[in-house]
Amino acid sequence: MKARLSQILFTQGFGTRRLCAGLIFNEEVKVGGEIVDDPDAEFETEGLVFEVSGKTWPYYAKALVLLNKPAGYECSQKPKHHPSVLSLLPGPLRERGVQPIGRLDEDTTGLLLLTDDGSLIHKLTSPKHHVPKVYEATCKHPVTPEMVQQLRDGVELREPNRDPAKPDHTEFTQAEGAEAFGTHGIRLTLVEGKYHQVKRMIAAVGNRCEALHRPQFGALRLPESLKPGEWAWVHSPAEVTA
Ligand code: URA
Repeated sequence: MKARLSQILFTQGFGTRRLCAGLIFNEEVKVGGEIVDDPDAEFETEGLVFEVSGKTWPYYAKALVLLNKPAGYECSQKPKHHPSVLSLLPGPLRERGVQPIGRLDEDTTGLLLLTDDGSLIHKLTSPKHHVPKVYEATCKHPVTPEMVQQLRDGVELREPNRDPAKPDHTEFTQAEGAEAFGTHGIRLTLVEGKYHQVKRMIAAVGNRCEALHRPQFGALRLPESLKPGEWAWVHSPAEVTA
C-alpha cells in the first residue's frame, strides 16, 4: 500500500499529523538514506525502512515486540508501586498504544510480548487458541516427583467470586507440561493465564515459588542476546504461533 510520508509517521507513533509534518519540514526524516522534506511524498509501506532523527524504524501496520522484562516493573498501564513495562519502550511504540499480551507479575522476569493489535491480544491469550507459555520457577523447598505429577494431573485453585455476596469457588487447573530441573526448579507449560497462576499452582502442591522466569511464549524463545530491559521487533505473529 502507498501512503504519504506524514501519514506513515502518524501511524507509526510519531505524534499528531502536525508534529509529523514538522519533523519532515525540519529535515529529520530520511528514506533510503536521503532526506525527504515533502510530507506528501508517497512511499510503498510494505517493507519500508525510514529514519527519524538518526534512528532507523521499520514500518509495521501493527506493532509486535518482545521485551526481556526485568523484575521491578508492572505490566499495568497505571502502575501502583513500580514503573510500567511501557516505560522501557521508545515513545513511538507507547504513542501507538502497545499493550502487554497477558501480564507478568512485578517480580517475574522474561519474555513479554506487546502489541497494538487487539485481536492478536485476544488470540494469544485465549485458552481456546492453545498457545503454550513456559515458566521456570525456583522453589523454596526441593521439588519432588510427586509434586511434578500432581501439577500434571491438575490442582484446584480457589477463585474469588467477583460478586462479594457469592462464595468463592474452586477451579481445576492443569499444567500441559511439568518437569523438575536441579533440586528446586520446576518448568511448567500452561495454556491459560490466570492471576498468579504458577505461584498458586506451586502453593497448591505444598511448595513456594521464590523466583519466576518465562523463557518462552508459543514458539518464540527469549533471545540470549536480549538483556533484561531490552526489546526487539517480532516481524510476524507467525513467529509466535508457528
Ligand atoms: N504465573 C504467576 O504466578 N505469575 C506470573 O507472572 C505469570 C504466571
